[in-house]
Amino acid sequence: MCGIVGYTGMQQAAPILLEGLKRLEYRGYDSAGIAIMDDGSISVQKVSGRISKLCELTEDGKTCPGNVGIGHTRWATHGAPTDINAHPHMSNDGRFAVVHNGIIENYLALREELIGKGYHFESETDTEVVVNLLEMYYTGDLKNAVMRVSSRLQGSYALGVVCSDAPDEIVAIRESSPLIIGIGAGENYFASDIAALVPYTRNVVYMEDGEFAQITPDAIRIYDLFGNPVSKKVQKVNWDVQTAEKGGYEHFMLKEIIEQPRAVEATLRPRIRGSEIVLDAEGLDGEFLRKIRRIMITACGSAYYAGCAGRYAIEALCRIPVSTELASEFRYGDPMVDSETLVIVLSQSGETADTIAAVKESKAKGAPVLAMVNVVGSTVAKLADFTLYTWAGPEIAVATTKGYTTQLALLYLFALYAAKETGRVDDKRYRHLLRALRSLPKRIQEAVDLNPMLDRYAEDYRNTRSIFFIGRNSDYAMAMEGALKMKEISYIHAEAYAAGELKHGTIALIEEHQPVIALCCNTIVQEKTMNNIIEVKARGADVLALAEKNNSEIISVADRMMYLPEVEPVFAGVVEIVPLQLLAYYTAKCRKCDIDKPKNLAKSVTVE
Ligand code: M6R
Repeated sequence: MCGIVGYTGMQQAAPILLEGLKRLEYRGYDSAGIAIMDDGSISVQKVSGRISKLCELTEDGKTCPGNVGIGHTRWATHGAPTDINAHPHMSNDGRFAVVHNGIIENYLALREELIGKGYHFESETDTEVVVNLLEMYYTGDLKNAVMRVSSRLQGSYALGVVCSDAPDEIVAIRESSPLIIGIGAGENYFASDIAALVPYTRNVVYMEDGEFAQITPDAIRIYDLFGNPVSKKVQKVNWDVQTAEKGGYEHFMLKEIIEQPRAVEATLRPRIRGSEIVLDAEGLDGEFLRKIRRIMITACGSAYYAGCAGRYAIEALCRIPVSTELASEFRYGDPMVDSETLVIVLSQSGETADTIAAVKESKAKGAPVLAMVNVVGSTVAKLADFTLYTWAGPEIAVATTKGYTTQLALLYLFALYAAKETGRVDDKRYRHLLRALRSLPKRIQEAVDLNPMLDRYAEDYRNTRSIFFIGRNSDYAMAMEGALKMKEISYIHAEAYAAGELKHGTIALIEEHQPVIALCCNTIVQEKTMNNIIEVKARGADVLALAEKNNSEIISVADRMMYLPEVEPVFAGVVEIVPLQLLAYYTAKCRKCDIDKPKNLAKSVTVE
């Protein structure tokens, strides 16, 4: 998500922080800032836009004296990417400054509490509650204040804190968000990402959840949340800057595939409170949903395929008719939407030209628009009547992975929410499905762990000209996304077919050794897909199937298997896609393709 850095030592802090922030630029951000402590006071410089603007403003840090400071690159989650919402944030009394990476889930309740006690807020961020809580709990000991504050916070955070009473000290704390301490000689650092530290030191300490560090130029002291000292091993990092940016992975795409359990957790967790789903879009409630007669989902590319998969879940749980339409076709078909049609628009970037046009067309026809978007403050997010962010964090690889899975996870969450609000699901099933939703990040991780052989399978596709992906029902929707992943990064022709359609034409193309990838994850249609596997095998196809790990029937008919953990059938898609993403990745790798920047493609398609 965001990036944080900190420095305390003998050198001027600002140039070091700016250099560290530049090393975090690759992650994507929309504003940046630094807070420097000098002579018992803290000064903050922050801007929306590029770090170069911050460098200009501070003459590369030269105009900011002081040897201790913290810095931040923000990827907006709560509040638009403005100067005021940029970090660092200061406490009301100006004694504390904080940078934050992550999401404080209970910030609204904390904000109310602080306002009741006379605190005021300048920004729309969740972070500003942290810095004012520090002020509230501070009684002269920064370490104690940090411990008390952390006991009030729910969510994920890596925080860097400075206090004007502790002139050479920084406190950094971690809960479900990465934090690394960098160790120098007479100077020390912290960062959310090794990339920011490698120019300065290779000696690092990895912080664990629930640990915090008191960092001074000469010492690092690490504690657990009860204040007990923790001893940690110093590790040596041998990564170069490029490897560090990719978190040690060879490509951003692989990093982003592996990040999916955490990304989906970030989408779902803040919105599941006990046995309730709380959607952060005012007015998207039972009263509104009960008036909706139809849902139309529109988007482009992978986002469209997420819509196709989400359609099955919404129809199954809510019994509302759902249609899907490519956003690039939407406005040319005189779409039949009205005030009783909820138009759901999906977009990672929020800037896809065709998707923006579909939003405008829907609104012109009086249809309410719900946007599910990753980039905060993007055009789609601003135009829609309701916006839910996916909170996947920046996605760098052109081929979307976590952008897609978080869209699908959000659609599932919406489906269950709408089913509950409209009385279409009984309590027992609701509770069962909510548990299943909560476990999705774990299931995604299992899907990665169950399939360590995909790099070897990919070798067999090195010289393949064409691959068919087949499946029925929701498996067909996943086949479409699996085929898109394969073609866009490996340049192998890949087509998805609804398995039942094979005998209506496509089976004519099946010949000896034709690769077919068969998706058999949807238990309702599994037997039917198995028959299709038998049909293509009879014509010589080489079948790689994906099914639950204990499914002996599919194992007995396919040539090779990819495995799925046990997962609630309505939500299986978000898990099922992961081995397909990995297979596409390894196939592209063995064909030596430019995986993160495939030819002819752009991350965000801002023209029609
Ligand atoms: O930013 P968006 O989600 O609106 O982008 C939509 C498509 O351009 C995008 O999903 C594209 O298909 C990806 N390259 C697929 O990996």
